[in-house]
Amino acid sequence: MQEQHTQIDGQLAAGRTRLPKAPGLGLVALGLVSLGLSAAACSNSTDTNVEETAPPATPPVETTLYQRLGEAEGITSAVSEVVQDAAMDEEVLEFFLPNVPDENGEVPDGKPTLAQIEACLVLQLSAAAGGPEVYPGEAAGWQCRTMADSHAGLGISEEIFDRFVASAAGTLARLGVPEEDVAIVGGVLNSTKDDIVENQ
Ligand code: HEM
Repeated sequence: MQEQHTQIDGQLAAGRTRLPKAPGLGLVALGLVSLGLSAAACSNSTDTNVEETAPPATPPVETTLYQRLGEAEGITSAVSEVVQDAAMDEEVLEFFLPNVPDENGEVPDGKPTLAQIEACLVLQLSAAAGGPEVYPGEAAGWQCRTMADSHAGLGISEEIFDRFVASAAGTLARLGVPEEDVAIVGGVLNSTKDDIVENQ
């Protein structure tokens, strides 16, 4: 588990990007003052060789993947879309049938409901994306488990796993998540492969 966290944290460090920051009011004010000064210098001098003022430096702003995905709210709606799209694959859906609540709203003992799985996935991706969430934590009344514990014995093949990840990437792209961020999320999902895939 510790190892999984480390892998994921590494991916996220790679996911931090620098975006140019728009000049703040302070910089604009500074620019106006310096323009005023050079105008004054011009009027008092016959020297035509006036140095050009260098444009103000634009300090980069760091954003986390968590922020770029729209924090908890954005990640919750993205995960909901990811799960809906993945469930269109009948072979994937089959794995989740025991997690669909019966007419009394119940699932077999020791099993999370679909809603709880989705809530755990939100928690996991939020934590992995640099949010304040911690995984495995509690979500929707369920104590989320590690990837190894929650997928043990399910017999998920590499082929199904890869299809799930490809479907998730397709969903994120459709939602307008930029290519580089889709790749980071794909990397996070793929880092769980060894804990999830059996019968290789
Ligand atoms: C691609 C990376 C994947 C991630 C990050 C992931 C994440 C999760 C999470 C957070 C949970 C809830 C944890 C818990 O039950 O305590 C869960 C449960 C589950 N996942 Fe995954 N999952 C992945 C791939 C898959 C795939 C490919 C399948 C099958 C097609 C699958 C099937 C399931 C099932 C059936 C459960 C419920 C297990 C149970 O009823 O005990 N998962 N997964």
